[in-house]
Amino acid sequence: MTTPIGIHDLSFATGEFVLEHTALAAHNGTEIGKYHLGIGQESMSVPAADEDIVTMAAAAAAPIVARHGTDRIRTVVLATESSIDQSKSAGVYVHTLLGLQSATRVVELKQACYGATAALQFAIGLVRRDPAQQVLVIASDVSKYELDSPGEATQGAAAVAMLVAADPALVRIEDPSGLYTADVMDFWRPNYREAAIVDGHESISAYLQALEGAWKDYSEHGGRAPQEFAAFCYHQPFTKMATKAHRHMLNYCGLDTDDAAVAAATGPTTAYNRVIGNSYTASVYLGLAALLDGADDLTGRPIGFLSYGSGSVAEFFAGVPVAGYRAHVRTEENHAAIARRRTVSYAEYRELHERSLPVDGGDHATAEQTTGPFRLAGISGHKRLYTRR
Ligand code: CAA
Repeated sequence: MTTPIGIHDLSFATGEFVLEHTALAAHNGTEIGKYHLGIGQESMSVPAADEDIVTMAAAAAAPIVARHGTDRIRTVVLATESSIDQSKSAGVYVHTLLGLQSATRVVELKQACYGATAALQFAIGLVRRDPAQQVLVIASDVSKYELDSPGEATQGAAAVAMLVAADPALVRIEDPSGLYTADVMDFWRPNYREAAIVDGHESISAYLQALEGAWKDYSEHGGRAPQEFAAFCYHQPFTKMATKAHRHMLNYCGLDTDDAAVAAATGPTTAYNRVIGNSYTASVYLGLAALLDGADDLTGRPIGFLSYGSGSVAEFFAGVPVAGYRAHVRTEENHAAIARRRTVSYAEYRELHERSLPVDGGDHATAEQTTGPFRLAGISGHKRLYTRR
């Protein structure tokens, strides 16, 4: 029997501030039911002026390093689609902030929201080659759309860090994977823009098409039958998308799509995404965190994962929670990461949304806003300066 490989530990961090959808609805005159029921979102995390994907990534990974040490981590793979540099990996800053050993390879991966799944599979391959090593996979993103655009209500920010290892304490990841790629322009962000360009309704169709393709490939490669899964973790740009996706999948398989069955399979994965918003690469793994923190004991019961990244790439695979996993989840810390956010008014949110770092690279000190463990202190000579409290 081959050694199981998978997720040994999982921790997440999110932004300093939170905007309630009621405040956004009061500003733009939207009936709140559209947000709470129509897209399934209640609030969105908003990063402070001195937070970015690096500070969130380091905050997410620090508890993992504290629990397991640095000796066995030989690779850091940071997935993001809100990158801060065209050349240097954000993971190198994180490597310094966490005090990781110099004998480490560090790389950044990108394919929209799918990147973290590529990182996870890359990590599994490395651990298979050398089961003594551990790989730190981090998904970190700030999701930002134009003010007063349809996408605005789906913004969010978070980082999920996962330690990938042999004999994992949380979830063993299985073969096969079902894969799908199609060249579509549903969502993209050219280098000169901070906010993404999105064709919202086209992006939902592209997602469902990709789900179908990935599931078909998974089935053709000897994957499990849909009835074998206890739950499904879908990429959640907004939580209602998990419902849409699962209904589409059941329909495609010719199975019953009644509301109760769909809610039972996806509902427990939505608790964190519903209040954090879209965290792009991190979203599907925030879904896993919520599921593992839930009331049900999932020991030995397969979970289906559907990772989707616009543009587009999708992957369907399965994971199985291992015996004893409930002793290793971080439920209290996860709830605290959400509860510690400070509520901002619509006006304060708008000011945060409109600020951007100067593009001339000259000296700039950022406002001291975050109470988190790491901050972006400023920029000097085109270099980002990070500090640890
Ligand atoms: N009460 C209850 N429900 C209501 C309502 C009310 N008062 N008013 C409207 N609704 C419902 C609508 O019926 C609709 O439900 P269905 O989708 O089930 O039909 C839902 O609320 C949304 O309404 P609209 O479609 O009219 O909303 P919209 O046009 O303003 O935009 C959106 C919705 C396209 C998702 C938009 O938020 C958007 O562009 N988001 C960004 C793109 C995105 O998230 N795409 C998802 C797939 S791409 C991907 O997954 C990658 C990624 O992370 C970006």
